Amino acid sequence: MLTRSLLRLLLAAVLLLALAAESLGHRDWMQNCSNCHCHWNSGKKSADCKGKKLTKIPQDMSNEMQVVDFSQNQIPELRREEFQVAGLQNLHKIYLRNCTIQEVNRDAFKGLPILIELDLSSNHIKHLHPSTFAGVEKLRIVNINNNEIEVLESGLFVNLPFLSRVEFNNNRLKQVQLNVFGGPLTSISLEQNQLTHLNKETFANLPKLTYLSLQGNAWNCSCDLQEFRDFAIARRLFTPPTDCREPPQLRGKLWSEVPSENFACRPRILGSVRSFVEANHDNITLPCRIVGTPRPNVTWIYNKRQLNPSPNDQHLRILNSVGEQVNGQQPPVQVLTSELRIYGVRNSDKGAYICVADNRGGKAEAEFQLLVNGDYLGAAAASDGLAGISGAIGASTSDPQTSIILVICVIATTFLVLLICAVLILFWYCRRVKTYQKDNTMMSGDGLISCKLDKTHNGSMLEGSVIMEMQKSLLNEVNPVEKPPRRTDIESVDGGDDGHEIKKTLLDETAYGKLFKWQEG
Ligand SMILES: *[C@@H]1O[C@H](CO)[C@@H](O)[C@H](O)[C@H]1NC(C)=O
Ligand SMILES: *[C@@H]1O[C@H](CO)[C@@H](O)[C@H](O)[C@H]1NC(C)=O
Ligand SMILES: *[C@@H]1O[C@H](CO)[C@@H](O)[C@H](O)[C@H]1NC(C)=O
Ligand SMILES: *[C@@H]1O[C@H](CO)[C@@H](O)[C@H](O)[C@H]1NC(C)=O
Ligand SMILES: *[C@@H]1O[C@H](CO)[C@@H](O)[C@H](O)[C@H]1NC(C)=O
Repeated sequence: MLTRSLLRLLLAAVLLLALAAESLGHRDWMQNCSNCHCHWNSGKKSADCKGKKLTKIPQDMSNEMQVVDFSQNQIPELRREEFQVAGLQNLHKIYLRNCTIQEVNRDAFKGLPILIELDLSSNHIKHLHPSTFAGVEKLRIVNINNNEIEVLESGLFVNLPFLSRVEFNNNRLKQVQLNVFGGPLTSISLEQNQLTHLNKETFANLPKLTYLSLQGNAWNCSCDLQEFRDFAIARRLFTPPTDCREPPQLRGKLWSEVPSENFACRPRILGSVRSFVEANHDNITLPCRIVGTPRPNVTWIYNKRQLNPSPNDQHLRILNSVGEQVNGQQPPVQVLTSELRIYGVRNSDKGAYICVADNRGGKAEAEFQLLVNGDYLGAAAASDGLAGISGAIGASTSDPQTSIILVICVIATTFLVLLICAVLILFWYCRRVKTYQKDNTMMSGDGLISCKLDKTHNGSMLEGSVIMEMQKSLLNEVNPVEKPPRRTDIESVDGGDDGHEIKKTLLDETAYGKLFKWQEG
């Protein structure tokens, strides 16, 4: 009896102790709360640490905590196993909004096997290592809005079987790699970033995806985006107002307004867009290599006319072919080659041949200057150097030929002007001498002879020059007028205006001047 009652007592005591322990534990999680506010919230043990001037995750919290809100603190870095070390391995939800976070260690969330929701919005995170969420198996919702991330790396959200929603609005995303997402994702937000294109493959393995927001990006509506655009519209993932930023002619247009085929890539010439070709063989080939999607139409222009040789033309032939070019890791690009062949080159074939490639995205041109052998040696020699230069600098060079021609023109013009000036001054001088002699009533043969002598001397000096010949003939015609018109003499004496006199002299010596004189006479 005694032993039985003793046993009962003992049992009761144990029960009481257990109860006490439990209530103590209960108080424990409420009290071991750092200096946050701990409370039950929606049936979860929650700690509200908003704006508590924390600089790291507090180490003195109960390990029973399920929801923690550390928003509006100054926690610049989330270190390796930060939550596990703090003994918070039972967390379901973590809020870290507006915490000035810059660095997130790749293992910061390690040891959180039942974490469901993570909010890192409004921080300064620039980079997320692809294994940041590895092992956080129960993760469902991730919010990283308002950060500075530029790239979503391959592997970031794979092997997370419950992941349903990720948000990266208002970051600096330029690139979303393949295989970033996996699992049963239903919603992805990528608004207000700097994306120019996306690949269909990035989203094609997400059968449950029903919401994908893409507005506010720098979409380049080119052939590179076409496939993704078609995919997004077919899967009804397109949400307005997703519009094009590039190319200029599609700027501001909604994806749904622009027909798929207008997502085109303007043709591009491979190699030099301006080159010199010396015809030193009977037959020459002008090769024009182009990339562009859809496949561009190519035409050849010579003398402003389209070349359209018939299939049995013996002189001209155009051959188009398509090949592939592999460069680096990029997928191979289709290269269209259009060759213009000229058989039995003639002197009359020289000139500019222009290869024009166009598609819906725009057009591109390449010009070939054909120099036929013995055409003009100087230009041919210069062309070798010029072709080299234009080849090296590529499409960005301005026309070197034009500048050479310009220089030659300037030199020639300067020379001509100087020559005319010299001749004019000579004439004026002679006139002055004559006038002077007349005014001094010394109109003897001497003066005229001396002037004539001057002229003959001058003429012989410049013999051979066409202009000099012209001037000489003019002289011969003017000379017989032994006595120049009185009008000129009077004006030259009392006017005294040299410029005026020159003009008068000029008038007298031109053909019109002569005509005028004949009419007078
Ligand atoms: C709770 O606080 C008490 C005293 O402040 C301490 O002894 C105990 O270890 C703390 N428990 C946890 C889980 O930190
Ligand atoms: C972020 O926190 C700072 C104080 O740390 C506060 O002044 C600011 O208003 C907060 N911003 C937002 C968007 O909550
Ligand atoms: C748009 O895409 C096309 C085709 O890939 C490219 O050539 C062009 O440079 C891109 N434009 C911009 C502004 O990036
Ligand atoms: C030029 O082409 C013609 C016709 O194809 C050919 O008969 C001739 O041998 C070629 N000349 C040279 C120098 O290759
Ligand atoms: C290319 O040529 C084909 C046939 O001549 C024509 O139907 C098509 O409209 C042309 N495409 C462009 C972009 O000019």
